[in-house]
Amino acid sequence: MMDVRVKLLILLASSFLIYSLIVLLKVLYDYWWVPLRIEHFLNSQGLQGPPYKFIHGCNKQINKMRSEALSKPMGLTHDILPRVFPHVYSWINLYGKNYLSWDGVQAQVVTTDPELIKEVLKNSEQTFPKREPPIYISRLVGDGLVTTEGEKWAKQRKLANYVFHGESLKDVFQEFRMLTSEVISRTAFGSSYLEGEKIFYMLKKLADIVSRNSNKSRIPILSKFWKTDDDVGSEKLAREIKDLVIEIVKKRENKVASGEAESFGSDFLGLLVKAFNNPDKKNKISMEDLVDECKTFYFAGQETVNALLAWAVLVLAIHSDWQDKARREVMEIFGSQNPHSEGLAKLKIMSMIINETLRLYAPINGLVRRARRQVQVGKLVLPAKVDVWIPNMALHHDPQLWGDDAHVFKPERFKEGIAKATKYNAAAFIPFGMGPRACVGMTFAINETKTALSMILQRYTISLSPAYVHSPTPRITVQPQHGIQVILNSLSNDA
Ligand code: HEM
Repeated sequence: MMDVRVKLLILLASSFLIYSLIVLLKVLYDYWWVPLRIEHFLNSQGLQGPPYKFIHGCNKQINKMRSEALSKPMGLTHDILPRVFPHVYSWINLYGKNYLSWDGVQAQVVTTDPELIKEVLKNSEQTFPKREPPIYISRLVGDGLVTTEGEKWAKQRKLANYVFHGESLKDVFQEFRMLTSEVISRTAFGSSYLEGEKIFYMLKKLADIVSRNSNKSRIPILSKFWKTDDDVGSEKLAREIKDLVIEIVKKRENKVASGEAESFGSDFLGLLVKAFNNPDKKNKISMEDLVDECKTFYFAGQETVNALLAWAVLVLAIHSDWQDKARREVMEIFGSQNPHSEGLAKLKIMSMIINETLRLYAPINGLVRRARRQVQVGKLVLPAKVDVWIPNMALHHDPQLWGDDAHVFKPERFKEGIAKATKYNAAAFIPFGMGPRACVGMTFAINETKTALSMILQRYTISLSPAYVHSPTPRITVQPQHGIQVILNSLSNDA
């Protein structure tokens, strides 16, 4: 008779074997069979693209093309797509306006077709919601307004819409980091940059982790058990940011509790704290939501305007004729007074320059949506759970939409407004997105940019430093890899 222990061992070994076989079959199914089926389905409709590679999709190829492009020096040109998104540039040329790409195992239909884009973005609530954010992005902005969905999104969006209307706005890249941090801190959180400094610092570190890990494939099974340094680091940063935000919230609550203040305040933080303290369950938000929303606005409100301002100063430094025109307009409207909202609305030349900067150097360079179910868009039938990726930089640099001079800085395109510039093709220019999930901070961002540029133009001439090296680089926003060095000469006689 066989020893019981041997029997047990055989049982254990065979269970382990069966389990391993099931895991292997599941991995093969998820990482081989499903992608190949999707690829076949989309290829058969004429949608081509680089072939799917087991586990990694196109990520290895994308990273190789990216590091090659970034290692080469580039001239002082606005033709930046081949450097910032070399794979998008090559594959649009090879496969056409729409192509199929793979972020690991995730199928992505990349599109620069304005009609298709319009259909996808306008249906962001029902058919094409945002996808669940990758792990590092969720640590950066939590389940805040940028990422959340459904009823929670509608509730948070209402709060944000209320606060971020235009009137609420009562080396240069680095300087603008401070400026934009200060502006969002004061307007949204009623605190100075210094109070939020640690939060900004940690958000920046988290953002670096996000950029470092974009287009990195996760190894099935193993990644569930084995944590990388970035996994551990981002978890720690997310915890620390949460504690800091809770501290700021508590400060507000204590002011009301001690009678020092009558209400939680009318800024964004005040509204959030009020919603957190709301006894009505339907309108109450949780502390988690409050923290995520603060992270979202600290980040979305700073990083994007930082990039726009820096690129706007660069184009003004290069194109001195437009700098002169903009300064003349600023002087005519404000003289030496501080900018005011009534005057900001009259800055036509400045608006043209900002739009042209947003076209050439759109800070947010890609929008993603996920098909909730199988759906037809244009002539394409997309399977459920396929992502649609909209590289708006490619759209903004497309000669078929903007003409052969698409890469030339020509603010006069926008002389008669955006509709005319895009020939009434609304989805050809989407620096702030479009449809229900379009940017909630657009007016705020434009007013902040106009104010900062006006104040600089009132005081200084801007010229490019010989030390400047042109190297737009894809992070979460498009950033100048080595900063933007300019020479500011004071316009006042006593300088
Ligand atoms: C030049 C500056 C800015 C640019 C280019 C920009 C761009 C964008 C874009 C393209 C989207 C849509 C993303 C998508 O559809 O997936 C977006 C959404 C958003 N932006 Fe901005 N943004 C800017 C400034 C700001 C500011 C200053 C704030 C906050 C005060 C802000 C807060 C948000 C939020 C919360 C969302 C998500 C809205 C929603 O999903 O309902 N943004 N932004």
